[in-house]
Amino acid sequence: MTPTPTTQVSNQEAEKRHAAATALRWVRSGMVLGLGSGSTSAAFITLLGEKVQAGELQIEATATSRASEALARQLNIPLLEPRRGLRFDLTVDGADELDAQLRLIKGGGGALLREKVLETASDYLLIIADSSKYVRQLGRFPLPLEVVPFALPWVLDSLETLGGAPVVRPNAQLPDGLYRSDQGNLLVDCHFNAIAEPEQLALQLQAIPGIVEHGLFLGMAQAAVMARGEQAEVLRP
Ligand code: 5RP
Repeated sequence: MTPTPTTQVSNQEAEKRHAAATALRWVRSGMVLGLGSGSTSAAFITLLGEKVQAGELQIEATATSRASEALARQLNIPLLEPRRGLRFDLTVDGADELDAQLRLIKGGGGALLREKVLETASDYLLIIADSSKYVRQLGRFPLPLEVVPFALPWVLDSLETLGGAPVVRPNAQLPDGLYRSDQGNLLVDCHFNAIAEPEQLALQLQAIPGIVEHGLFLGMAQAAVMARGEQAEVLRP
């Protein structure tokens, strides 16, 4: 029997919670944690908060978005502000796509810049994902890019030259109808359909002035917990 869309969504939600719960096994008292963004990360933060409130874990953390920070604060997770020398023992975050080498597309939730900053300052990045995120080749999910508003027209031209089909992310609730990141920048979702050489594309995107950060996270994740039904598989690059 083919699952209905509602069943698929509830399976996906269950897998997200399962991946989040499994990730708690990586957490030890005394750790400084990076907290990811998006719904899978929110499930992890919620479970982590329960452990902190029960006195079972003593940790400190910094969040990769205002939304995750607000959730962590609500759950009484002690929060650290960015400062020189601050490093993270472990960051737990979701992904929009991951391949067998644990190359990632991230930024569907718009938090890719802070995510890349914290994850670069982390000794260990653990990705938590439902099975829909696993792909043979990156690129079906449009690649998110954080872009300085002034540079937008030229960034769009450059992305088309690279073979992408860029779409400026909308937000109907804002006066100009455009989504803003926590930094006040625009988000562009660039459709490539298939990214044959992610490392090469990353270099090309880094060379475009006005792109503050791109959503390719390459060589950064140490492990991923991918939930498929009742199973949680641990993937390593
Ligand atoms: C936010 C992200 C998220 O981790 C990604 O979008 C996955 O989100 P979700 O867990 O809701 O599927 O990169 O910038």
